[in-house]
Amino acid sequence: MRKNFRNMIVTPLPVLILGTYDENGIPNAMNAAWGGQIDSDMVIVSLSRHKTTENLQLKKQLTISFATRKTVTAADYLGIESGRGINKIEKAGLHAVKSSKVDAPLFEEFPLALECEVAKLEDDNEGYLLYARCINVSADESILTDGRVDLSKLEPIAFDSAANAYRVLGEKVGNAFSDGAALK
Ligand SMILES: Cc1cc2nc3c(=O)[nH]c(=O)nc-3n(C[C@H](O)[C@H](O)[C@H](O)COP(=O)(O)O)c2cc1C
Repeated sequence: MRKNFRNMIVTPLPVLILGTYDENGIPNAMNAAWGGQIDSDMVIVSLSRHKTTENLQLKKQLTISFATRKTVTAADYLGIESGRGINKIEKAGLHAVKSSKVDAPLFEEFPLALECEVAKLEDDNEGYLLYARCINVSADESILTDGRVDLSKLEPIAFDSAANAYRVLGEKVGNAFSDGAALK
């Protein structure tokens, strides 16, 4: 027997960490789960009004990092406190370094990050739809295997909206564009 629910569940939702600078060059970061990839170089994120959106309007550049098993507490903190008047990065114990590709911070604790330009920040009165064009992928050596990004080393987390929890992603269970061929 199946049961019906009103609240939508999409899974897995990423835990994206949007890194920006403000007008004084102070780094900030926020947690965003309502987003995803829509093209080979484009990420879209649904945003309310935040310190981050003010920074995006100002700088038009950002980094998008992926929260991991090791950074659950810091990542959640970045989603429950605003950076207005508070240096969240210091409070979260994160270490920001300026990206060489965009005017936005990378964080040492997040080994995988996209360096992005704002392609569009659509204001729909209630909030924004951010289109972020990725111009570079920055990966720490610690998560590489044979020179390629290895998600089993990264251990990214997903936001579980059904249980208000974070879950770790990792185990490889198949080969894309390949396993289905057995049924052709
Ligand atoms: C798991 C989680 C997911 C979130 N996803 C989003 C999101 O997709 N869009 C959004 O506008 N806010 C989202 N938030 C809320 C922001 O991260 C939060 O309001 C944050 O304090 C904004 O930071 P800022 O004011 O420093 O920019 C999320 C929070 C959590 C904990």
